[in-house]
Amino acid sequence: MYLENAVFENFRNIEKVSFTFSRGVNIFYGNNAQGKTNVLEGIYLFAGGKSFRHARERDMVCFEKENARVGIAYATEERTNKMEMRIFRDAKKQMYKNGVKILRAADFIGNFKAVLFFPDHLGIVKNEPSGRRAFIDGAVSQLSPSYLAALLEYGKLLEQRNALLKNYQSYGASFDITLSVLSERLASCAAKITSVRAEYLSRLAEIVDSCLADMTGSAEHISFEYNTSIGKNPECALTDVSENEEKYRKSFAVNVEKEKILGVTLSGSHKDDFEIKLNGKSAKLFCSQGQQRSIALAMKLAEGEISRERSGELPVFLFDDVLSELDSERKKYILSRLAGRQVIITSCAESDFDKAISGSEAKKIYVEHGTFREE
Ligand SMILES: Nc1ncnc2c1ncn2[C@@H]1O[C@H](COP(=O)(O)OP(=O)(O)OP(=O)(O)O)[C@@H](O)[C@H]1O
Ligand SMILES: [Mg+2]
Repeated sequence: MYLENAVFENFRNIEKVSFTFSRGVNIFYGNNAQGKTNVLEGIYLFAGGKSFRHARERDMVCFEKENARVGIAYATEERTNKMEMRIFRDAKKQMYKNGVKILRAADFIGNFKAVLFFPDHLGIVKNEPSGRRAFIDGAVSQLSPSYLAALLEYGKLLEQRNALLKNYQSYGASFDITLSVLSERLASCAAKITSVRAEYLSRLAEIVDSCLADMTGSAEHISFEYNTSIGKNPECALTDVSENEEKYRKSFAVNVEKEKILGVTLSGSHKDDFEIKLNGKSAKLFCSQGQQRSIALAMKLAEGEISRERSGELPVFLFDDVLSELDSERKKYILSRLAGRQVIITSCAESDFDKAISGSEAKKIYVEHGTFREE
């Protein structure tokens, strides 16, 4: 899959611009606070459906303007598609594919496929479990509409179950029956989510391990331990949906009295985490800044690889400020892994890319105050 072009209007500090991309490396470079990340944010809207900065829609509209528009054209093996997002200061965004309005985010996500690396992703290794769950969810949702559907349903059911637990006294006799219906449905969604996450993580670990071994001359090896409310992988396989469902049913039943006191659901997919182990030790506790970056990057390269395995096409790589903090060996490795892929990359230091842009399919774009100059 290739991003052919993109147009921006009143998006953040970009008043109006139209880009045509190379099928190789595209480098946006310039000083801090000029608009480099804004370009990636605009493009990623079409992969993730929303801002990767967790921005509100109206924050993406240029100050003092009422609405913004971002559009892309991307080529798959079959055809070229156009997608557009209109974002308003005071109304809900509108989404279009090939001129047809799309009403559900689930129909928008999964068309244009991209892998994003954003400096916040360094937190994948050390920060809260929610960042690690968001990594898997973002990656798998682009590939599997049924996973995205289970995830969205899970979120709604969890909200309902928590509301019920918080106000259980006001439900009287209907509490037990409502709780059992919600728990049943929650168990069914959680079982699917766990099975997909377990399977995805096991393939991810294989690829990340081989990337990291290549990057470090086999000095570093990685493994993942997937922890859920119904057991840990690799000790439990966690891929059998009906087995998972039975276990979730039990786990929802066991905690009810405590849950009534606390007013929240204590087990389920929203509690999942996976521990990253570097040479058998917790990466969270022991790895250096550069090792964190290398692991996060290897996970992103692996995400792209799995996307290619499952959808038949390589996604577009959107890499924001990836190379800082890496030593020259690791830098060289990352750049070599990006060969043959379409990459849109930002940096303050253009010299990092001298090797990567020696091929003919490369573009360099200088960014200053939301304006762009192709070199
Ligand atoms: N809604 C908006 N309207 C106008 N300008 C905005 C808006 N939101 C953000 N900006 C401006 O965009 C600029 C930041 O852009 P961006 O994050 O793309 O910078 P960058 O080039 O990636 O910088 P760095 O190298 O520091 O990461 C800031 O100057 C900010 O004030
Ligand atoms: Mg930036």
